[in-house]
Amino acid sequence: MNSAHRLVTDDTPSKSRGRFPSGRVAAVLALVLVVANLFGLGYYAAPVATKVRSDLHPLLRPSGLIGQSLGLLAFAGFLFLWLYPVRKRARGLAFSGSIARWLDVHITVGLLIPLIAATHASWRFTGLIGLGYLAMVIVWLSGVAGRYIYVRIPRTRDGLGMSLDDVRLERIRLTHQIVATSGIPLGQVEEALRVEPIDAQSLGLIGTIRQFVTDDLRRKRQIRGLLSRSAASGTSKGRLDRKAVREIVKLARTQISLQQQMRMLEATQRIFKFWHVAHLPVAITALLAVILHVTVAVVTGSTWFR
Ligand code: HEM
Repeated sequence: MNSAHRLVTDDTPSKSRGRFPSGRVAAVLALVLVVANLFGLGYYAAPVATKVRSDLHPLLRPSGLIGQSLGLLAFAGFLFLWLYPVRKRARGLAFSGSIARWLDVHITVGLLIPLIAATHASWRFTGLIGLGYLAMVIVWLSGVAGRYIYVRIPRTRDGLGMSLDDVRLERIRLTHQIVATSGIPLGQVEEALRVEPIDAQSLGLIGTIRQFVTDDLRRKRQIRGLLSRSAASGTSKGRLDRKAVREIVKLARTQISLQQQMRMLEATQRIFKFWHVAHLPVAITALLAVILHVTVAVVTGSTWFR
């Protein structure tokens, strides 16, 4: 299997998977925004009558230099989010980067937008744009849920679905790597990491989500079981250095995830289709509300740049 087809999971370090470290970048930028909000807390938390008399008002109000610049940033970021579905559908845009990388950046920007927009609005959400903001928060929550489902479909580095053969080969490769790193005999590794078959077809929406959570918890238990086998088989956990234990945990997690994902694949794909159908209309509603809001602000001249 060539490296482009190798499985990429949440555990694959961003450096080696050649992907954008979306979670970390979003966390750092969110921290910067939270700290900036804490500095302005006296202003943001004050009643409107006090706000308008504050020295910070010309800067931090939604039409002020800082407030509105953040609004423009949120607007640009919001429009940018729509480039992801365009890239996903247009093969001719492959030169601009893989779908996986685009999704990483989409998620980073998407995670930050509600915080940037709330700072722009100085944390007051009234009128039509208040409803638009609500739509955005719903899309945001839906995005987080979508990602939870998305990572359960085995994918290659390019963000494309893996073939069954590739998944099988990857699982064998991971199992042998665990044997080599841990020194536990192959049969014992396979037994410790075995995933019981279930009838995923009969699970409804709630049943499938419950199964996702159960699988996440079971994976942790199985990994603990594998590590205790390494102690029992003489390759004491104590003698394995911490780096090796970390490596085994990472490999085992990916190996079990693959089995769980393949077992649930059809049910996951069904839910993900359903998610797409629900996600898009709310995203479009939020987009229309945001465009209307910006148009009104520009037309009525409530901007610092015009
Ligand atoms: C806040 C505003 C957001 C908007 C307006 C937005 C919009 C969109 C749109 C229009 C799509 C494409 C749907 C399609 O292809 O049919 C999409 C896909 C997706 N978004 Fe977002 N999104 C937002 C935030 C987020 C966040 C915060 C996350 C994750 C934490 C996220 C994760 C995803 C995922 C996993 C997909 C599906 C990828 C795929 O099927 O290829 N989104 N989003």
